[in-house]
This record gives sequence, structure tokens and C-alpha cells, in this order.
Amino acid sequence: MSQPMPHPQTPWTPTSWRQRPAAQMPVYDDLPTLAEVEERLAASLPLVFAGEIRTLRQHLAEVAAGRAFLLQGGDCAESFADFNERAITDTFRVLLQMAVILTFAAACPVVKVGRMAGQFAKPRSSSTETRNGTTLPSYRGDIVNDLDFTAEARHPDPRRQLRAYAQSAATLNLLRALAQGGFADLHRVQQWNFDFLRASPQGARYRDLASRISETLAFMRACGLDAVADPQVRQVNFYTSHEALLLGYEQALTRCDPQTGEWYDGSAHFLWIGERTRQVDGAHVEFLRGIANPIGLKLGPTAAPDTLLRLLDALNPDDQPGRLTLISRMGADKIATALPPLIRVVQREGRCVIWSCDPMHGNTLETSTGYKTRPFTRILDEVRQFFAIHRAEGSIPGGVHFELTGQDVTECLGGAQAITEQGLAVRYHTLCDPRLNASQSLELAFLIAETLKDYRREPGANASASEGNSDS
Ligand code: PEP
Ligand code: CO
Repeated sequence: MSQPMPHPQTPWTPTSWRQRPAAQMPVYDDLPTLAEVEERLAASLPLVFAGEIRTLRQHLAEVAAGRAFLLQGGDCAESFADFNERAITDTFRVLLQMAVILTFAAACPVVKVGRMAGQFAKPRSSSTETRNGTTLPSYRGDIVNDLDFTAEARHPDPRRQLRAYAQSAATLNLLRALAQGGFADLHRVQQWNFDFLRASPQGARYRDLASRISETLAFMRACGLDAVADPQVRQVNFYTSHEALLLGYEQALTRCDPQTGEWYDGSAHFLWIGERTRQVDGAHVEFLRGIANPIGLKLGPTAAPDTLLRLLDALNPDDQPGRLTLISRMGADKIATALPPLIRVVQREGRCVIWSCDPMHGNTLETSTGYKTRPFTRILDEVRQFFAIHRAEGSIPGGVHFELTGQDVTECLGGAQAITEQGLAVRYHTLCDPRLNASQSLELAFLIAETLKDYRREPGANASASEGNSDS
């Protein structure tokens, strides 16, 4: 086993990324306004605090050791127009339901991370879009420009960053209230079910599981066990994450923690590098290597083992457990050939990572009617193969990463509701990529819970149901 490489030679500063080529960044022409916006953000409060980020890192170290499971999910892109209490609460609620299914059915603590409160900037496959002979800049997320196809809307406006910051702060405020103010109390597990799912097989299955949890709580109370009063039962730890794409924004919210001297990006607890911005010498890797937040790295089917090693050396040279989550997004047709070589190189070098599966981004297709969609069967297929490959390689399947919403949308084909190509038009609301709806999300959670339970039961599997923290 070779030793991790020493730290990259050049010193890191919050601005050192500016010397590197930066892919996928908007071209702003109003530089004085951009500078003013970044100054205002730099003088604003961080949204999350160093102590919380360190706690998440500890929870993720448990995931890396196979004693907990990571559930990460939320919108592909948050939007200014669709910003309301209902949408946030519903996404939080479906994540809670999924987490409780995994925790209870697989007897596994679940670390819950939302793609929420800051998931605004989007990478695009092309920097321009042409319709009927007119070419305009691509939509890059509400933090950059507007989706409407007009020159004015598509013009990148730095002031949108202030609105994204304000919306993130308000979203996080609601999420904290939901996580700690009673909504997430396990005694309310029955009420998390969605009305529109009550009659469905997923809703019924959830209701059954929820009744068993309620019975268990009642039984414990009858026995005089005080677990019921435990904050772990009354509250959940819920963390936020987004793709660290717009680096000027991320830099402006990055602060040095006086206690430890470490730099924390205060825009979210967890940040990830996208598939299109993971160039080893690029600006995004440079910025993220210097912050102490736990980070993610998306890996598509073209990721080569030696590139991955260089990225591990840059992003986690000391091999800290919980620091780095590798989020594979290969596609159901490619994962069997693309993932094993990456797992093997990590194992050969004895590196510590979390393996998470994003079964969304490698399974996107366009229907003949022009909808960008993802077949539920392919999503399931990639998740199943992810678990099977890790079992075969003797590595730990540590988590999953989904684009989902608690709303009853029709964006991904199939699932128990059997959404058809014609059915997509009914409630297709996403600004960017197609998301799982609440029913499809629960269906997946039940499948993963079963797979995880088998995995954890197997002799030799690293995990043990009785160990670990009890973060429900
Ligand atoms: C995303 O997570 O929305 C995304 C763009 O993913 P990727 O970088 O894996 O394509
Ligand atoms: Co997406």
C-alpha cells in the first residue's frame, strides 16, 4: 500500500481557486456589481456553524466504517418561484419517511442530508441554448439567471446571489424548526404519511411500519424506559448540502474558525464537486480541498482510476474518515464495468472513503414528446447493482443520493403509480432534472432497506446493527 501523497505544494487560501481554470462558471459582465455582491455576502452571517459541520463529519466517519448509512436528497435545483413552506416541508417529510424506513427496517442509523437551502447553481452540457434560430446563454440555476428564454432573463445577474442567500437562510430556518420543534418527533411517525398516498401500496406499507414503531414506543413507555424522553426520539439531526459550483459565492461565505484555525464554508454543512467540474487542476478541486467541511465528489463512467487517486490525494491527503464521499452516477448500463475498477484502486491504496450511489444522473433520457425523464426501473437497477458490486468487492455501500420531492409530480417514468410517457405532462414541474415523487421515493427506500438488512446480516459485512450512534 503506498502512502497518501503529501499536500499539494501550493498553499491554499480562500482565493487560490482564482488562479485555476474554472469550468461551468457564468460570465458576468457587470464586474462592479459582482464585487459589491461578494462583499455583502462576505459581511453576512454564515448559514451553518463549524461545530455542526464537525458533528456531521463524525457521523460520516460512522458511515465510512459501515456503522451508519447516508441518505442525501432533494431538488435538482431549488427555485425562486417555487419557494414556499409546503414544498420545503414535503421534501423534508419524505426524507424523514425514507430515513425511518431505513432505520427501522434495516436497523441502521441514518445520516440525513438535504439537497436544500442552497442548491441553486447548475452545470450545463452546453453554455448556450438555441431555439428557433435564436441562441442565448444556458440557464444555470436561479442563483445565476432566469429560465425564461429571453435575452434579459438569461443574462447572468450577480444580484441573484443575494436572493439565493436570503432564501437559503429562510429555508434553513424552517428546516431547523421542523427538525427540532416537534414535527420530526418519532411519536408523530404516522402523521408523516402523505394524504395522497394513503390508499396506495407504498402508503399502506409505510402505515404498517409506522404502527410498529408506535407500538414499540408505547411498549417502552409501559416498561418505564425513558427513551421516549430522549432528544434522539424527539428531534433529528438534519444537514444541508449543495453542489459547490459558483465559487465566488462559496468563497464569500467561507470563514476561519478561531477555535481550530480551519476554514469552513458556511453556505452548507456538506458541499460536493460535480461530474463536470472535477478537473484535478481546476478551480473547484482547488477551492474544496482547503475547506474543512465534509465534501462529495461525483464520479461518472469516464472517471479513470488514476484520476481518482490524484483527486483523493488533493481532497483527502490525510485520509480522514468521513471527509470524502464518492458519489458514483454511472447509469444502470455502465455501473457494472465502470464502478469496480474505482473501488479496486481505492482498496488497493487502502484509502478511506464513503461510497454513495446517485442513480439519477446516469439514467436520464428524452422522450419523443420532448420530456427529460428517468425510468424508475433503471434507477432501481442501478441501486441494486451498486449494492451487489460492493458485496462482490468487499467494500461498503455507504449511502444514496437522490433528486426527489415530496410533491406529487410526474417527472420519472414508472413506479407503482406506473407513470407513462403521456402521464409525464400532467405535473412536470422541475426546473432542471426529473425528480422522484413521494411514492417513488418510498418505494426505493423499502427496496434499499431490504438490501441493506441483508448486507448487514451477512457474516463479514463490516456493519453491526447494535453499534454506532443512534441518530434516528
Ligand atoms: C446534480 O447533482 O444535479 C448534477 C448536475 O450532477 P452531476 O454533476 O453528477 O451531473
Ligand atoms: Co440534477
